[in-house]
Amino acid sequence: MNARARRRPFRMLKILVTLSLVTGIVVGAGALYLWSTAVVDTADEIEFDTPLSVPPLAESTIDGEGRRVFDLEVRQGEHEFIAGQSTPTWGVNGDYLGPTLRASRGEQVLVNVTNDVGETTTVHWHGMHLPARMDGGPHQMIDPGETWSRTWRIEQPAASLWYHPHLHGNTLEHVYRGVAGMFLLDDERSGRVGLPGEYGVDDFPLIIQDKKFAADGTLDTGEGMVAPVGLLGDTIAVNGTVGGYLDVTTEKVRLRLLNGSSGRFYDFGLADGGTMTMVASDGGLLPAPLEIDRVLLSPGERAEVVIEMAPGEEKVLRSHPNDLGLGPWDGRFTGAQDTLDLVQLRAADTLAPSAEIAAELAPAPDLREEDASTTREFRMSGNNINGRRMDMSRIDEVVTVGDTEVWEVRNSNGGTPHNFHVHDVQFRVLDLDGAPPPPELRGWKDTVYIRPNTTVRILMRFEDYTDPDFPYMFHCHLLQHEDRGMMGQFVVVEEGGSAGTPPEHDH
Ligand code: C2O
Ligand code: CU
Ligand code: CU
Repeated sequence: MNARARRRPFRMLKILVTLSLVTGIVVGAGALYLWSTAVVDTADEIEFDTPLSVPPLAESTIDGEGRRVFDLEVRQGEHEFIAGQSTPTWGVNGDYLGPTLRASRGEQVLVNVTNDVGETTTVHWHGMHLPARMDGGPHQMIDPGETWSRTWRIEQPAASLWYHPHLHGNTLEHVYRGVAGMFLLDDERSGRVGLPGEYGVDDFPLIIQDKKFAADGTLDTGEGMVAPVGLLGDTIAVNGTVGGYLDVTTEKVRLRLLNGSSGRFYDFGLADGGTMTMVASDGGLLPAPLEIDRVLLSPGERAEVVIEMAPGEEKVLRSHPNDLGLGPWDGRFTGAQDTLDLVQLRAADTLAPSAEIAAELAPAPDLREEDASTTREFRMSGNNINGRRMDMSRIDEVVTVGDTEVWEVRNSNGGTPHNFHVHDVQFRVLDLDGAPPPPELRGWKDTVYIRPNTTVRILMRFEDYTDPDFPYMFHCHLLQHEDRGMMGQFVVVEEGGSAGTPPEHDH
């Protein structure tokens, strides 16, 4: 063996060691950079110098058939999130977001949606019990210039629902640009339980969304390098206002919170640690008012809270860190460790008296597990449900009308949060990994957070509206996951019926 041959392995080793050191430093620096930039903390740092914008109530008329008619126009606009900077946006009947629709139980509504945005879109009525053909899901595309009209009867309790586009593969962008609004329902009881209920006076919707801006003021849809929940913005807009304050003129104020974000979670509470009274979840009023410090909402979920104010007092609504059941690494890149000041409430020096909230608000969900005839399993992993991605031409589940069913939803992803939303119904949460749900999840729900590596069982009844061909959706409401195909379709059929053929599209 000569000397040269003997030296060669050492030279190789040296090169390898140097290479791995360099790689290590680059990777380490990259990780450090990611680590140090990921957490947002705006506690006590927001100026609150802009009056909070409140979406107007949508105008409506009653037509010859007694239907309440709403006209909505989805269009392009411009909005000033940041003073002096105009951002191109989309909105409904305005530049950004849409008006609040309001109707009562038993009423027949007719909604005409005109698409003036220059791109195909859809409008879905999230949380609404209605026939699949009225639902505004991915099959009901509205082409540019078209008007899409749908009518149905409001057949469910008072609730804070919402509407938003639901285009297959492109929901995130349409919602993010600003197409979203509330749809409030009233019933015979909801106005008589002592809740603040004068819209824009002591009763306000708060649509909470995170935004990211490019240097030129346009909305940035880019994702971070590590992005388990997709797009995360570092600026929070509430009803489109960044740093908004709300003048409170009554002893109690009701806030209808909607997490209208793509992938951000909010653990709502007051900055001063005081309590709030939670009175409603997604599908309506809770059985009884609930004193809470915090309420966690994943994308798509709603909660109504009542906050009591003293004359002259100021309170800040804040989103607090919440580990979301994730480890420190994943928690960091999902925004779970962020602290975000959202809105300031400013009480006047004299406040008009508010009523006492009734001890009983609404009947508890009347579904019993013993009545369930079917149990279905849904495993969420990657961007799949039960190993499959959304296919508009495939019906995944066939439900018999009148049946009560248990759906067992498992998040099999270790580091990725998912939630689960079902169209058409409101459900009852049976348990979270075998444990009874916390009180804030005991009312009607249509969207529920599924922590990594846990199973949530939900119970629901499919009361009516059979249609073998036209499907409803179930999906993860983190919009990036939904857009990537974490969605499936179900039809409701007559006893003994089977799935038909979903509509074909040539888009
Ligand atoms: Cu909020 Cu399937 O939607
Ligand atoms: Cu929905
Ligand atoms: Cu998901």
